[in-house]
Amino acid sequence: MNVEKYKIQHDQPVIKQLDEAAINRIAAGEVIERPSSAVKELIENSIDAGSKSIFVDVADGGKTLIRVTDDGCGMTPTDLPLAVSRHATSKLNSDDLFNISTFGFRGEALPSLGAVSRLNIKTKGMETEAAELSVDAGLISKIKPVALNQGSVIELRDLFYATPARLKFLRTDRTELQEINKIIKSLSIAYPYISFKLRDISHNKDRVLFDTISESGSPDVALKQRISKVLDASFIENSCAVGAGRENLKLSGFAALPTFSRGSTNLQHIFINQRPVKDKILIGAVKAAYSDFLAKDRYPAVVLFLECNPHFVDVNVHPSKLEVRFREPGVVRGLVISTIRHSLAEAGHRASSTIANTALGAMKENNSFSKSLYQSSLNKNRSGNPIPDNIFGSQQFEVLETPSGSFTDNDRKDEVSLQFPLGTARGQVHENYIIAQTDDSVVIVDQHAAHERLVYEELKKQTAASGVTRQVLLIPEIIELSNSDITSLITEKEQLLKSGLVLEEFGENAIIVHETPALLGDFNVKSLILDILDELSSSGNSKKLEEEIASILSRKACHGSIRSGRRLNQEEMNALLREMEVTPYSGQCNHGRPTYIELKLKDIEKLFGRT
Ligand SMILES: Nc1ncnc2c1ncn2[C@@H]1O[C@H](COP(=O)(O)OP(=O)(O)OP(=O)(O)O)[C@@H](O)[C@H]1O
Ligand SMILES: [Mg+2]
Repeated sequence: MNVEKYKIQHDQPVIKQLDEAAINRIAAGEVIERPSSAVKELIENSIDAGSKSIFVDVADGGKTLIRVTDDGCGMTPTDLPLAVSRHATSKLNSDDLFNISTFGFRGEALPSLGAVSRLNIKTKGMETEAAELSVDAGLISKIKPVALNQGSVIELRDLFYATPARLKFLRTDRTELQEINKIIKSLSIAYPYISFKLRDISHNKDRVLFDTISESGSPDVALKQRISKVLDASFIENSCAVGAGRENLKLSGFAALPTFSRGSTNLQHIFINQRPVKDKILIGAVKAAYSDFLAKDRYPAVVLFLECNPHFVDVNVHPSKLEVRFREPGVVRGLVISTIRHSLAEAGHRASSTIANTALGAMKENNSFSKSLYQSSLNKNRSGNPIPDNIFGSQQFEVLETPSGSFTDNDRKDEVSLQFPLGTARGQVHENYIIAQTDDSVVIVDQHAAHERLVYEELKKQTAASGVTRQVLLIPEIIELSNSDITSLITEKEQLLKSGLVLEEFGENAIIVHETPALLGDFNVKSLILDILDELSSSGNSKKLEEEIASILSRKACHGSIRSGRRLNQEEMNALLREMEVTPYSGQCNHGRPTYIELKLKDIEKLFGRT
C-alpha cells in the first residue's frame, strides 16, 4: 500500500482550469479507444454528410494511417476550424438531446482525434472552394486552399502518438484491422445504398478487404443483398424474417435458425434507428429468446433493427454511443423475445440447410473410401471370395416388411405421406436414426433428439395451460436432503406443483414426494430432485426454473420412452414425423442440435455421378 498517498496534505491545493489540449486528450480517451473507434467516428461523419460512397484506407492496423474519403456535403472553409474545436457541431439543432437523428451530436470526435494524432482534413462544401486544415497533437494550422472534388478526405496519421500510454494497449495490426473491418461491415448493413471499400495499404501493398457497391431495388431487397454479402450467403436462407411492433417501437430483421448458431457473437448485428449498438438489454433479450434452443456456449446469429421514436431512447449514455438507455426497457426486452420466438415457432420444424450441406460434403470426402471398398470387394471376388449381399451388414439396417402383390392401403398411405415435409418412414438404423423419404429427398431423423424436443414442447404447453398432469405415487418417495436444499425446494413449492411435482417437508432433514409428472411414468425421483436443486442454485429465477424443469423432465421422459436404442415400428416412426411437423421449434433439440437433416435427391445423385 502506498502510505505516502494517504498523508494529509499541508499545502492548500490550487484548482486550475485545464487547457484545451488536455481537455481534448481526456475526452479522446473515452471516444477513441482504438483505431476501429476512430474509423467508426469518421465513417459516421461521412454518413451524416449524406455520402453515397465511403472509402477507407489503413496502414499497420490503422496505427500509422487511417484515411476516409467520402462524397458527402463537405464543409465550408469558414466551418473548418469550428469542426476541430470542441463542442462545435452542425447536427444538434436545438438543445433537445432526446431528439437525435444523426450519428453525431456531441461535437467532439474530430477535436479528440486532433488531440491524439496528426489530423489532416481536405474538404469541399457544396458551393464553396475546397480547403485544407491540419491539427497536430492539438495544434491547429492555418486554412489553405486545395484541389478537391465534392466531399471530404480525412486523414489520421500516427494515432495515439501524443498519448503513448494508450499505444501500449493496442493489439496486433491484424487484430486491429479485423476490428476495423467488423465496424465497417456492421455500418454497411444499416446503409445498403452506400458503397463501402476498405483497403490495407501497409508496406506499399494494396489489399482490398471489403468492397461492396451500392445495392439496388426496394429497401427489403437491398437489405437482403447487403446482408448476404456481409455476413454469409447462407444466412438469409437459414433465418426467418422478424417483424413486429407498434407505432413508436418496431422490430424487424432476421433471426437465424438455432441450428445456424455460432461459437461467438460475431454474427449478431443489432441496430437502433440504424445505429449499430452493443446494448446489454438487447443482447440479453436475444439470448433469452433462444434460451430454449441453444447450449450455453452457442450464440444465435441475428440482424435486428429496432426503430423507435428518438424520445424513447437515450443514446447519450457513453461518448462511444454503443450503449443506450431505454425509457421502457421491459417493453423493449419483451418485444425482442416474443418477436424472435414467434418467428422461430413459425419456422416450425425447419433446420439449417448448412447441416445437410456439411453432411454431403463429408460424404464426398469419403468417396475415395467408398471406391476402395468397392474395389476391394471386386478384387476379393476375382480371388474367389464371395461379395457380401449387403455391404452395410444386415444387422445394421432394419428392413421394414413391405407387402408384396397389389397396391395395398399401406402403399396408398405411403404415397400420401410422401407429400408431408418429413415424408414417410422407410426404416430405422442403429436403433436411433429414422430414414424417411419425401418426394425429392431423404430425411434422416435423430429420434432421441426429436423426441426430447417434442416432450419438452408438450410439457411447456401443459405447464402454461393448467400445470403438468400428475400421477400419485403408490409409495411416496422420501429423500434425505440438507436443510438449505429443503428450504430451496419448499420456497419453489408452487412452481414445482405447476411442473407436476407435489412434495413437502418430512421430518427435520428430508422431503416426501407424493405426486410426479404423469409423462415420466416410473422413474428415479431422487435424481430428478437433485437435478432441480442444481438448477435452483444456478438460476434462482422462477420463470427460468419453469423452463429448466420442463427441460429436465423432457430429458427424463426420453430415458423412459423413445430414447436412442429403441426399435420403432413404421407406425410409431410416422407418428413421430407427423408430430414433428406440427410442433414448434422441432427442427432442433433443446441444445440447438438438429433433430433431422434432409438430403436432396439431386445432391445424392450428384454424389453418385448420376447428373
Ligand atoms: N466527412 C464530413 N463531411 C462533412 N462534414 C463533416 C464531416 N466530418 C465532420 N464534419 C463536420 O464537422 C463537425 C464536427 O464533427 P465531429 O465528428 O467532431 O462532431 P459531430 O459529428 O457533430 O458529433 P460527435 O462528436 O458526436 O461525432 C460535424 O458536426 C460536421 O458538421
Ligand atoms: Mg461525428
